[in-house]
Amino acid sequence: MFPAASLLSLCFLAVAYGQQVGTQVAENHPMLPSQKCTASGCTTVQTSVVLDSNWRWLHSVNSTTNCYTGNTWDQTLCPDAKTCTANCALDGADYSGTYGITTSGNALTLKFVTGANIGSRVYLLANQTNYQMFQLLNQEFTFDVDMSNLGCGLNGALYLSEMPSNGGMSSTNAAGAKYGTGYCDSQCPHDLKFINGVANIANWTGSANDTNSGAGSMGTCCNEMDIWEANKNAAAYTPHVCNATGLTPCTGTACGDDSDRYNGICDKDGCDFNSYRMGDQTFLGPGKTVDTNSKFTVVTQFIATGGTLTEIRRLYVQNGKVITNSNTNIPGISPAVNSITDAFCNQQKEAFGDTNSFEARGGLAAMGQALSRGMVLALSIWDDHAAGMYWLDSQYPTDSDASQPGVLRGPCNTTSGDPKTVESTEGSNQVIFSNIKFGDLNTTYSTGPSSTTTPPTGPPTSSCASHYSQCGGIGWTGATCCVSGTTCQVLNPYYSQCL
Ligand SMILES: *[C@@H]1O[C@H](CO)[C@@H](O)[C@H](O)[C@H]1NC(C)=O
Ligand SMILES: *[C@@H]1O[C@H](CO)[C@@H](O)[C@H](O)[C@H]1NC(C)=O
Ligand SMILES: *[C@@H]1O[C@H](CO)[C@@H](O)[C@H](O)[C@H]1NC(C)=O
Ligand SMILES: *[C@@H]1O[C@H](CO)[C@@H](O)[C@H](O)[C@H]1NC(C)=O
Ligand SMILES: *[C@@H]1O[C@H](CO)[C@@H](O)[C@H](O)[C@H]1NC(C)=O
Ligand SMILES: *[C@@H]1O[C@H](CO)[C@@H](O)[C@H](O)[C@H]1NC(C)=O
Ligand SMILES: *[C@@H]1O[C@H](CO)[C@@H](O)[C@H](O)[C@H]1NC(C)=O
Repeated sequence: MFPAASLLSLCFLAVAYGQQVGTQVAENHPMLPSQKCTASGCTTVQTSVVLDSNWRWLHSVNSTTNCYTGNTWDQTLCPDAKTCTANCALDGADYSGTYGITTSGNALTLKFVTGANIGSRVYLLANQTNYQMFQLLNQEFTFDVDMSNLGCGLNGALYLSEMPSNGGMSSTNAAGAKYGTGYCDSQCPHDLKFINGVANIANWTGSANDTNSGAGSMGTCCNEMDIWEANKNAAAYTPHVCNATGLTPCTGTACGDDSDRYNGICDKDGCDFNSYRMGDQTFLGPGKTVDTNSKFTVVTQFIATGGTLTEIRRLYVQNGKVITNSNTNIPGISPAVNSITDAFCNQQKEAFGDTNSFEARGGLAAMGQALSRGMVLALSIWDDHAAGMYWLDSQYPTDSDASQPGVLRGPCNTTSGDPKTVESTEGSNQVIFSNIKFGDLNTTYSTGPSSTTTPPTGPPTSSCASHYSQCGGIGWTGATCCVSGTTCQVLNPYYSQCL
């Protein structure tokens, strides 16, 4: 936890000091409109994206002298956290030129390598001062993804973190959401240059194998819902919970580093559903049931019972066809399921011999509380200097017996994710996220025109049954939702009506 003494001293910092804003490059957020949906239709929300502060140029408030170069702080400008925080300013970003981030209509493209830049992370902004907050308990979240050009060792991620809505603006952080501050996640990352408006300079150590990254004593923890972590070979969705509300800085054991992995405040493993790992190797990939050679829609439903999150469902839509998620095929997970529930998580941990840190920190109920408080949407493309992304698309741990349940996560080999290889051979890779929609259950997707060949398993967006029409009953194959203002009422086992 944050040392009490430091918290106290922060309160008395001169208020003129702060994580400052530079004026060398104008900050223009690329527009990325999204849609909020109910049974009566969807409305456009004028959202945009903002680059995370960690990728930004950090320089002296009075000049263009770098405060940080490669993975080293300037000793003069940054002799200690307080001086550094006062001396250094974050600047605007050239999204496409420097970072390979572009938007077009409702689509966001994240390129992997652009010049000297590797990967990026952006957040969805509501306006110049606040992130778009997602409160998704008993709601659904939908997007399209094109990862046909995203190979082994890469991760095109779309996820929610319980970040502060204004980016943590304070007397020590003048930049805020407009400059992408306030990141946190369930890995309690130490690589953030500023946490809560304080330079993370104490004991900063440059990474041995990443010239652009380092780690300070402080980590930044919070609840995380990974809606999508994937490349064309494998995909996972994973809730991770923390014994904490909102952004929580950590030091020492609380960060859960290395041998403290299961003693920290966050559940680093999470409870993942990766179809390949869960026993269906034919479900998602190039030419498979969900064909990653072309674009498809990913729907995630956060089902609540009595205000408590009890299930996270997944379905896909491709070429107008709804594709239900794959079923588990793992001894010990019984009955076979295609969604995440606490029962599934407990059986999975047991079947794979994994520590159940998800249950220990509150399981789905804790995830649901974070979803109802509100979370920020992050979209990123990255390679993995710590574990080669083998936990997502290969055999992990890489030295374990591949015949054991849970070890194989995807078809990639155990050298494919080496960042040096990935950066040199897959530099031109990219991911495209588009058509972001959120709102009431079953209102953000439709089966489209070519759906007539298979029975739809979800009602089309715009064809909920009208007032007085049938909406259910034995043998009924039509719409099971009702237009706004009416609800589907069971009159007898053979007939339900919108009333
Ligand atoms: C920036 O300029 C101000 C005003 O001249 C001065 O007080 C401050 O020390 C300077 N900071 C740096 C880092 O040069
Ligand atoms: C920005 O969005 C936040 C959250 O939606 C809202 O509370 C705030 O009033 C908005 N500010 C402006 C200037 O529109
Ligand atoms: C820096 O590292 C030293 C030695 O490991 C440790 O005693 C000290 O507490 C660390 N400083 C911070 C701020 O964590
Ligand atoms: C969560 O944190 C509280 C207070 O910090 C502590 O009392 C409790 O034991 C923690 N629970 C778990 C499961 O770590
Ligand atoms: C990179 O270095 C970290 C420690 O800084 C280490 O844990 C990791 O295994 C290394 N990764 C690779 C791919 O060499
Ligand atoms: C492992 O994968 C990489 C990249 O996908 C490929 O270049 C390499 O030849 C593969 N190695 C083996 C032993 O299959
Ligand atoms: C959503 O659709 C599914 C599948 O058709 C159905 O089981 C479920 O009851 C629907 N939920 C709501 C709230 O309409």
